[in-house]
Amino acid sequence: MFSQRTNWRLAPNALTRAIEEARASGQAILDLTVSNPTEAGIRPDPEIVLAALANPEAMRYDPQPRGLLEARRAVCRYYRESHEVFHLDPERLLLTTSTSEAYSYAFRLLCNPGEEILVPKPSYPLFEFLADLADVKLVPYPLLYDHGWQIDFDSLYKAATPQSRAVILVHPNNPTGSYVSVAETSALNAFCRDYGLALIVDEVFLDYAHDGALRDSFVTNSDALTFTLSGISKISALPQMKLAWVAASGPKEAVAEAGARLEIIADTYLSMNTPVQLAAPVLLDQRKQIQPILLDRLRVNLAELDVRLAASPACVRLQVEGGWYVVLRVPALGTDEDLAIDILRKMGVIVHPGHFYDFAGEGHLVLSLISDPGAFREGVARLLQCIGA
Ligand SMILES: Cc1ncc(COP(=O)(O)O)c(C=O)c1O
Repeated sequence: MFSQRTNWRLAPNALTRAIEEARASGQAILDLTVSNPTEAGIRPDPEIVLAALANPEAMRYDPQPRGLLEARRAVCRYYRESHEVFHLDPERLLLTTSTSEAYSYAFRLLCNPGEEILVPKPSYPLFEFLADLADVKLVPYPLLYDHGWQIDFDSLYKAATPQSRAVILVHPNNPTGSYVSVAETSALNAFCRDYGLALIVDEVFLDYAHDGALRDSFVTNSDALTFTLSGISKISALPQMKLAWVAASGPKEAVAEAGARLEIIADTYLSMNTPVQLAAPVLLDQRKQIQPILLDRLRVNLAELDVRLAASPACVRLQVEGGWYVVLRVPALGTDEDLAIDILRKMGVIVHPGHFYDFAGEGHLVLSLISDPGAFREGVARLLQCIGA
């Protein structure tokens, strides 16, 4: 009765079952995987946000497939103020309810059923489902760790086939926290030109560079057809407002053709709601007060982790440049999932095993750095005690 593409394993995985059991037993749990800012006590000003949503103009319906012009102008202002991008034409932007929706539009735009998208490994676990729903095949290309993460270009070239249509970049990547370097960007553009591929670049964590240095956005990348995805779920810590976008850049004719086709995809659903679009300038402006708080929390938690790790030689953290996560390398005595379950049962601490993110081998745990600092400190102490033992 159901499509093959929805033949997912529906039963919860072993870690999820263990979490449910621990919660049902009343065990006090410290969750070091919180990535929902509204659960981590990070909250933009409720009065300002809610007032912006109560605009009487929202009673009028003006369906615009690319999104209301004022909202797209607000996105251009974000790039101008935060990333020194002074010439982003709102016509190159199309609003979506989430980055995930923007990925789906890009997959539908670029791929016939069965065609391939090159994805970094390790990376974000949602790609698999997005690809299934778009009948697209994901082909991983490795990121290698050697005093920082780098794209393995040899493997990237080998992974390309005549069915390849695009390369996904996550800038900075989740969970490795590595940005695509300037040298990698030019090599990627050359690769895309050689193979006739597009770039799909996820920049939801772009603003969270731990050293505070400005990182270039791909919205100005012009050497290959590029779709840059972002949204306010991370930029303003407002995931519940469902406002994201895709910006097209690259060779002029391809950008125009892509924009016209994307407009028809978006017109088919018209999924954007009016109150959020009207509130977009205010919602985006919330970043100015929320990002310093978040950046401070990321740095405080990372510093705390480093202090604790200095006394725990069994465990090291991998270098991280930006984003909300950190990767620990731990002794690989069994599977990472078994280790995560062990830590939960013995210490009441939730961490993610590396295999959720498709790490090449065992021996990796992923922690969120946006957790409440008190919970983070206690959770890390217990985690390291468990690994040490
Ligand atoms: C790399 C990355 N991209 C996209 C998203 C989802 O963003 P959105 O809420 O806009 O769909 C996440 C969520 O954690 C993410 O980690």
